[in-house]
Amino acid sequence: MTLPESQSAANESPTGLRLPPMPRGRVRELVRDPLNFFLNLTRQYGDIVCYRPAPDTAYLINHPDYIRHVLVDNNRNYSKATYSNQVFKRLVGDGLVTSEGETWRQQRRLMQPAFHHTRLEALDGMIVAAAQEMLSRWEGRYAAGQPVDIAREMASLTLTVTTRALFGVNLGEEVNAIGEWVNQAAVQFEKPSRPHVQESARAVRAIVEGIVQERRRDFTDKGDLLSSMMLARDEETRLRMNEAQLCDQVMTLLIAGYETTANALTWTWYLLSQHPEATGRLRQEVSALNDRPPAIADLERLPYIRMTLDESLRLYPPAWMLGRRALGVDEIGGYQVAPGTVMAICVYTVHRHPEFWERPEEFDPLRFNPEVAMRQNRYAYIPFGAGPRQCIGNNFGLLEATLIMACVAQRFELRLAPGSEIHPQPLFVLRPNRDLYMTLHR
Ligand code: HEM
Repeated sequence: MTLPESQSAANESPTGLRLPPMPRGRVRELVRDPLNFFLNLTRQYGDIVCYRPAPDTAYLINHPDYIRHVLVDNNRNYSKATYSNQVFKRLVGDGLVTSEGETWRQQRRLMQPAFHHTRLEALDGMIVAAAQEMLSRWEGRYAAGQPVDIAREMASLTLTVTTRALFGVNLGEEVNAIGEWVNQAAVQFEKPSRPHVQESARAVRAIVEGIVQERRRDFTDKGDLLSSMMLARDEETRLRMNEAQLCDQVMTLLIAGYETTANALTWTWYLLSQHPEATGRLRQEVSALNDRPPAIADLERLPYIRMTLDESLRLYPPAWMLGRRALGVDEIGGYQVAPGTVMAICVYTVHRHPEFWERPEEFDPLRFNPEVAMRQNRYAYIPFGAGPRQCIGNNFGLLEATLIMACVAQRFELRLAPGSEIHPQPLFVLRPNRDLYMTLHR
């Protein structure tokens, strides 16, 4: 519940504009339990509240109108120069996630063709084949009555899909080095300079450099994302990306593309395991495919899978926190924003905003039924961000996740093996706090 202004810590700035409420001494909670810290701030103080993650001053903004203002309408006043972005830069260099201004605009133009639907349409067979390989391994587990660790399985599958989509080949052993690096980067996100994080980043960079150099020596368009990035020319300068730029972008896509999709799938299986009626509906939907492998043309026949994914991304958005820094003065909802202020958007709390979501804690895929979803505020649902910096891989991630779900649901039903309580752990992406062993059923 929002406190009336007089009871909150609202105060006035020298410009006459209000300053947001500023509760004191709560930063320890932020470190201990960020999701509840943000949830409690929004419940106690409303849609804009100031907190102080040293050395910054940050405004937590939770109203769709404020989010739209920062990410879309006045996006040019907001840079990505936050602490997390600096960490990201140390991990992947100057790729699409971290770059700014004209450099970013040029990079986005060069990268966009790789994600064009004609390129993505060619990937469905590869995604389904990778899922079938995993399912063949599961047959042995099923026969032996052994459970699978679904978080691990989804991570390994989406890593295979991401590397095949990028490079058009199976990487073999090298895939493990990439997986290890992304995992370390995720767990040690606050400590990117630790020697083993640096070391595994160097190892992955060497793999990526090797692939890029080989492709530059003997180029053919294999239809993969790297080919498309190598072919793209800037429309003004007519220049192509050089080797270092290609490596930065590949590193960026590896880190931005795979853990996010893996966790979206993991949370979806978890939610389905808690909701047998949704699992039944999903099974019914895939049975219409008559055991034939799904393809991109089947997406329109799989609306319930898509709604389930949308709902899972609402409850457990992998990219759970977005940040921007104000370049110049601004005003949001009558509150003053000074240059340098960090605008923090906790996607997890926005997706549970009680004014915009009925029964926000409840899992209900039907709220994404197109007729209902049409009435939803666009900026109350931002699993892929919004505005010019919106996720470039959103269609790819959704295509991949939908096809994987259809393949799995055609063969197995997953039930959660008993264990301790599961709750979200907000690392670099939102992960479950423990491994998720699931038993396989026909
Ligand atoms: C379910 C899966 C995914 C989720 C939830 C997700 C989420 C996001 C979000 C929220 C942003 C915006 C960040 C911001 O505004 O600060 C973003 C940006 C980005 N994502 Fe994704 N993503 C997913 C899958 C992918 C995939 C599959 C790829 C590529 C293979 C990818 C590549 C990128 C890149 C390159 C950016 C930066 C775009 C730019 O700044 O121009 N993502 N993602």
